[in-house]
Amino acid sequence: MESKKRDVIVACDFANREEVTSFLDKFAGNARKPFVKIGMELFYGAGPDIVREIKGRGHRIFLDLKLHDIPNTVRKTMRVLSALDVDLCNLHAAGTVPMMEAALEGLTRPDGTRPLLIAVTQLTSTDQEHLEGDLLISRPMEEVVLHYAQNAKKAGLDGVVCSPLEAGSVHAACGVDFLTVTPGVRFADGDVGDQKRVMTPAEARKIGSDFIVVGRPITASPDPVAAYERCVKEFLED
Ligand code: C5P
Repeated sequence: MESKKRDVIVACDFANREEVTSFLDKFAGNARKPFVKIGMELFYGAGPDIVREIKGRGHRIFLDLKLHDIPNTVRKTMRVLSALDVDLCNLHAAGTVPMMEAALEGLTRPDGTRPLLIAVTQLTSTDQEHLEGDLLISRPMEEVVLHYAQNAKKAGLDGVVCSPLEAGSVHAACGVDFLTVTPGVRFADGDVGDQKRVMTPAEARKIGSDFIVVGRPITASPDPVAAYERCVKEFLED
């Protein structure tokens, strides 16, 4: 299985190959190659070759495609992603335990290795009102998030994507080895942008995040390499 060692993941929310490669070129001479998140826009626009190209440059890859379909389809799709040699991928826990188990089967290579697999519990864009009104889920959001995290653990997944504010309760419910991958990270002196609940890298470390996903504080910085190194220092070293 891929390494669960704590790390900073850079969200490469770029629209096309040219933009992402010119961003990554800045790290060409850097000793540490960032762990990179590729999302739906870039993957669907540029195709699977973008994964091969970024892997070829020495980066680890979190492919953020959030699968949610019937178990058979998810099993077969995960087999394709595993063959692409991504390091971390994800799905919606709402697909239920059998779907998550099928995903793990599909990811596992003939030699027994596989990428890490984490679940999205509830999207942070879903609030209590929509949980109840649209989805007819009447339990409090926190209970739903923890229950979905426990389902993911039951299915054998490695962790969940969650707010840094939920990392402590997820670890309490699912164990310290269950990974928490947390976006919503900002430098103490930086712009919050559209994120509502944010933490600094150091705070995320203290609260027990295993991986932080950081986009604009690095990608929109005038000096992305320095911003990345600052993030690494605050999250991993201070
Ligand atoms: O630019 P920023 O640091 O806000 O980027 C955060 C990344 O994490 C984006 O790729 C965003 O889509 C993702 N994300 C998030 N909140 C979630 C789940 C994913 O910000 N709840």
